[in-house]
Amino acid sequence: MDVYQHSHTSQAAHPYTEQDIGTTELLPTYRMDLRPTHTKDVFYDANPISDWSELSWEKIGRPYRVERWSKEKLRWEKEHDQQLPPKTSWEMFNRSFQQLFDEDALATRKEALGTLGKSLTTLQLHEAFEAVEDIIHTSVWNKIHRIEDAIWDPRGKRALFEGLDVEKPEILFLGAADGYEAMQLMAMYPGGHTVLVDYDDYCRTHRFGEFPESYPFLGENPATGAPKVWYRDEMNIDFEVCDIRDLKYGKEFDIVVSIGLIEHFPDEYKPLALDMHRRFLKPGGYAIMTTPRAQLQSKIFYTLFADTMNFAYRELMDVKHLGLYAYENGFEILRHGRIKAHNGVIARLR
Ligand SMILES: C[S@@+](CC[C@H](N)C(=O)[O-])C[C@H]1O[C@@H](n2cnc3c(N)ncnc32)[C@H](O)[C@@H]1O
Repeated sequence: MDVYQHSHTSQAAHPYTEQDIGTTELLPTYRMDLRPTHTKDVFYDANPISDWSELSWEKIGRPYRVERWSKEKLRWEKEHDQQLPPKTSWEMFNRSFQQLFDEDALATRKEALGTLGKSLTTLQLHEAFEAVEDIIHTSVWNKIHRIEDAIWDPRGKRALFEGLDVEKPEILFLGAADGYEAMQLMAMYPGGHTVLVDYDDYCRTHRFGEFPESYPFLGENPATGAPKVWYRDEMNIDFEVCDIRDLKYGKEFDIVVSIGLIEHFPDEYKPLALDMHRRFLKPGGYAIMTTPRAQLQSKIFYTLFADTMNFAYRELMDVKHLGLYAYENGFEILRHGRIKAHNGVIARLR
């Protein structure tokens, strides 16, 4: 187990200030969004279920399983004559998903359009097909991640995370990948400390390691309560490269969060997954869990991006599924709802 301290000495620019609050801007690889949390297209549909004890699996059915696999996974399994081990699958996933975040989608699309033109005039049909595929992928990624900002979804996440009764919280992020949501939480509840945990060291070095220093997180000024723009190098963050099943903490965290983790555990392992969120919580602490929604756009996304995304078992859920898993594993659901691409639950031990 290796713990790395995030350096606080960066001189990177902080391009946005409190004067930019209320604005949004499209940058080559992402959207900066300092618009207020409660704006129309936030899609936060709060608390549709009033009594969790009324729900049952017979009534709501089971989540939808994504079963269209990445070619890389299938190739590996054929070559090794065995199933891809989960950790290797995450190593493949993280490298491949991060490529999308690093890509200037519009520049790549322009290049693909040029290639398409050339390959059509020279009748190179295979190249032309590949270029069309690139054009579709870059256009869809541009829409999902840049235009709609459905993955980071800062306004949806803020709407979900608001109203927690914490001060300078200790936060544990299980399967942290780029650590985005912990940074959003730290901006909203400043002065605390976060441990990001992921067993893929590439997340420490690249996904979190190279997360843009100039990305502005809208949060709060603890001295005045007024809105404030925060940057990652102003936050106290450690990265622990470790299997979440091997963590040795006590009950010392105010918030334990996971984003897109529960849906990777088949039902027989769901109690174990939920227990990870309970084990390290202080009495009265909050578990925050989100999972991808079983909506048509998500099904299309995981089909179109199967080669980039689908290396491991994955379910798409409704917020009722996520809430019922939490409820039947001993949590009280304090808030729940749907944000752009995910369902979210804020829970506490019953
Ligand atoms: C689906 S990703 C979470 C999605 C994430 N928000 C993103 O942007 O990719 C899950 C992350 O959890 C990590 N992970 C999965 N199982 C783990 C385990 N047992 N211990 C530590 N990390 C784990 C993976 O390496 C991966 O980075």
